[in-house]
Amino acid sequence: MRSIVIATLLLPLTLAGVLPRAGKIDYNGYKVLRLSLKDKSAEVEAQIEALAAHVLNPGKSANLDVVVSPKDVDAVSALAVKTTVINENVGAALEEEGGLSVYAVPSEAWFTAYHAYADHTNFLTDLQGSFTAQSEIITAGASVAGRPLTGIHIWGSGGKGSKPAVLFHGNVHAREWITSKTAEYMAWQLLTKYSTNTTVKALVDKFDFYIMPVVNPDGFVYSQTNDRLWRKNRQTVSGNSCVGRDINRNWPYKWEVTGGASTDPCSETFKGRAAGDAPENKGLVAQVNALRDLRGISLYIDFHSYGQYILWPYGYDCNLRTPNDADHRRLATNAAAAIRAVYGTTYTIGPACATLYATTGDSTDYTDVPGNSTYSYTYEVRDTGRYGFTLPANQIQPTVRETWEGVVSMLKAA
Ligand code: ARG
Ligand code: ZN
Repeated sequence: MRSIVIATLLLPLTLAGVLPRAGKIDYNGYKVLRLSLKDKSAEVEAQIEALAAHVLNPGKSANLDVVVSPKDVDAVSALAVKTTVINENVGAALEEEGGLSVYAVPSEAWFTAYHAYADHTNFLTDLQGSFTAQSEIITAGASVAGRPLTGIHIWGSGGKGSKPAVLFHGNVHAREWITSKTAEYMAWQLLTKYSTNTTVKALVDKFDFYIMPVVNPDGFVYSQTNDRLWRKNRQTVSGNSCVGRDINRNWPYKWEVTGGASTDPCSETFKGRAAGDAPENKGLVAQVNALRDLRGISLYIDFHSYGQYILWPYGYDCNLRTPNDADHRRLATNAAAAIRAVYGTTYTIGPACATLYATTGDSTDYTDVPGNSTYSYTYEVRDTGRYGFTLPANQIQPTVRETWEGVVSMLKAA
């Protein structure tokens, strides 16, 4: 029996060009549990985080979705008022995701499979190489391990750096693989459709685009080599064996406010020891500040998954509204309608804290205030939890296509 299980598990992965590595977590038999908690107790939450392999929705503590190994199911359930099993076998869901494919040349086929980090860099470089007159590769500092945070800058008829900035970040959370594909699709569309599509041409001529598909390269690599469900960066903490800061809790604006991040290095939402002390944040902060000072930022989008939300500031305060809240709502309403028109996918929209949960030191609060961006959004793309982070490869193309329509509608109005 055991040998049959191993054979059926390894075969698709090997065919997809990925060799299983020693040390990689095997999620076969792990379950996703939805826990109802009595009340927001930090102590109970910490106990659950310690026992669980991962928390899938950190911050939403009334209903915590956790990945748990078979041996810990009983102990974790004992800490909850009610437990529902929402996935019997995470390993099986990972197989459905489709593994990693080998990259060839830039083509739409890129959006039909997931790829290794090195291939993401190749894709971007190859795409840039086909449009050298209106694009260049850019970097925004480097990760903990020294990987450059790599992106592409795209401009139109006005020439390089002549227009207000549009800035997209993808894959800040390592396990959210669909989001780097989404950011890449934006770059792909803008460059490959520029000469044939008048809408695209008008947008590229109106803005300078700065698109960073993977702003957490260390975490992304780790999610491919060791732990598919890794979220944070890979920074160590002195005097503690837990690894990783949550890059979306480390931005140096309202970082010190309590309630929207964790001070525990073992938590999925560890904010770091000081504001902006993650190398990735240092690079991204410098990028935002530089674009602000150059021509200003018209639109910032941070792509996350999952949940199907369009959110805007603020994360750190549920009662506060940004001065152009009504404009944010109008653009988000139209974007949600544009997305829905493609395949019927429905999005929930609203100010981030009030709509989802509180976050401190998050990207959009930084771009809204210190970055002075006219518009700042977090997109949480597909799905609503059936597959969650391991969205099957056959949903990449539908997801990026519908998201493109939402983004275009925002760009027209921004
Ligand atoms: N899910 C993302 C995170 O946890 C985005 C949160 C958006 N902001 C918010 N205040 N809910 O970082
Ligand atoms: Zn995220």
